[in-house]
This record gives sequence, structure tokens and C-alpha cells, in this order.
Amino acid sequence: MKGTTPAGARSEREAAAWVRDMFGRVAHRYDLANHLLSFNIDRYWRARTVARVRHILTRPEARVLDICCGTGDLVRALQRGRHGETPAMGSDFCHPMLLAARAKLGGGPLFEADALELPLVDAALDLITVAFGFRNLANYDAGLREMRPNPLFGALYGFYSRRLLPAIGGAISGARDAYTYLPESVVKFPAPEELAEMMRAAGFPHVEFERLTGGIVALHLGRV
Ligand SMILES: C[S@@+](CC[C@H](N)C(=O)[O-])C[C@H]1O[C@@H](n2cnc3c(N)ncnc32)[C@H](O)[C@@H]1O
Repeated sequence: MKGTTPAGARSEREAAAWVRDMFGRVAHRYDLANHLLSFNIDRYWRARTVARVRHILTRPEARVLDICCGTGDLVRALQRGRHGETPAMGSDFCHPMLLAARAKLGGGPLFEADALELPLVDAALDLITVAFGFRNLANYDAGLREMRPNPLFGALYGFYSRRLLPAIGGAISGARDAYTYLPESVVKFPAPEELAEMMRAAGFPHVEFERLTGGIVALHLGRV
């Protein structure tokens, strides 16, 4: 299989269905769990992302889409960066997530779509973002290996993500399996250099990335 492999999924279709269902079950508590489990650092990651693409956001005619938008936090941050110009759009394949996003954004351009089959013509967008969504896709290029933050931080983070995170996330959302899947999917995700290479191979000649927060997160930027 070329992407995420939740336990028991025998095909890409089953993996995608499991992921969609799992996010549907945690959608009502997703924001709370996210902010708590990341110690609110997720806000900084989004702000950093917006800062890195501000030169595109400030173009009045820019068409911007955040895929796998979940409850819409990055869409909202991108929209604020647009200063009233055509708002950034958001898409996700999980209906309950989009309902939460709609409540937060007060409407706005949101649509339900699988990120592997976007209902858009080629080159329709000036900027496409994805935050913590790519890892859940049922198909991405092979060669996955463990993400490696610096060793000391890595040990702490490993303990946190394997032991504490499932317990806390499970208690908040009532879906412990979702928060067991989370660290498992992180472990399978390619290292930053590897993901950058995959992006180049997929047709982005200019790729840069920066590690944030001791390497537990990497922000990749690809230009054509
Ligand atoms: C970990 S959440 C991230 C949400 C949001 N981007 C954030 O940063 O909080 C992953 C999201 O990706 C969505 N997702 C996963 N696979 C998808 C796919 N193939 N197509 C569309 N959305 C997908 C899930 O429904 C979920 O809302």
C-alpha cells in the first residue's frame, strides 16, 4: 500500500473509509483535543504557514485552497491574510468536519471532496495548503520511514505520543483508537527530506522546508 495503513484496512478504499469515519467520530471535540495535545503550538504552526505564503495571499486575484481542512482553522488564518479579497476555500472528505468548519467560518467557500480527486481543473489554484492531512491519505509515494526529530526531544515526544496522547485524546473525544492511529500514522510518514524529494518528483521543481518545534513538524513549500 502506498499511503496510510490503519489496522485492518486491506485496500486504499478501506483505508480512506476508515480515516473518514474516524475523523467523523472525533470532529465534535477535534479543536479542543488539538489545542490541548499540542499545547496550543498548533496556532503558531498555522501562523508561520500564513507568514510564509503572505506574498501570495496579498495578491487580490489569488485563488487559495486548503485541502484536508478539517474544522477550518487554517482556512480562517488564510482568509485573514487575504484582507477581504476573494476568501480562501477549504475542502475535506469528512462531512462532520466540514459542518464544524462552516460553524466556525460562518459559511464561506467550503466543499466536500477527496484530496486524491479534487473536482478542479489543472492549474486552477495559486496556492494549495495541507496541514496534517497528507499523512492520512491512502496513497502517497513509497519509501516511508520514521520521522526523526532530534534524539532527546524524540525520546520525550515518543513517550508523549505513544502513551499520553492516546489516553488524553481518548478521554476528551471518546475515541481512543483515533489517538492511537495518530502516532502510528506519524511514525509511517516520510522524513522531511524524503517528502521534499517526493514533491520534486511530483512536479514541484522548487521545494523548501523548515523544521518547527524541535522537528516534530516540518513546513514544506513547493513552487512550480
Ligand atoms: C488531522 S486532520 C487536520 C485538519 C486541519 N487541516 C488541521 O490542521 O487541523 C486531517 C483531516 O484530513 C481529512 N482527510 C484525510 N484524508 C482525506 C482525503 N483523502 N481527502 C480529503 N480529506 C481528507 C480528514 O477528514 C481530516 O479532517
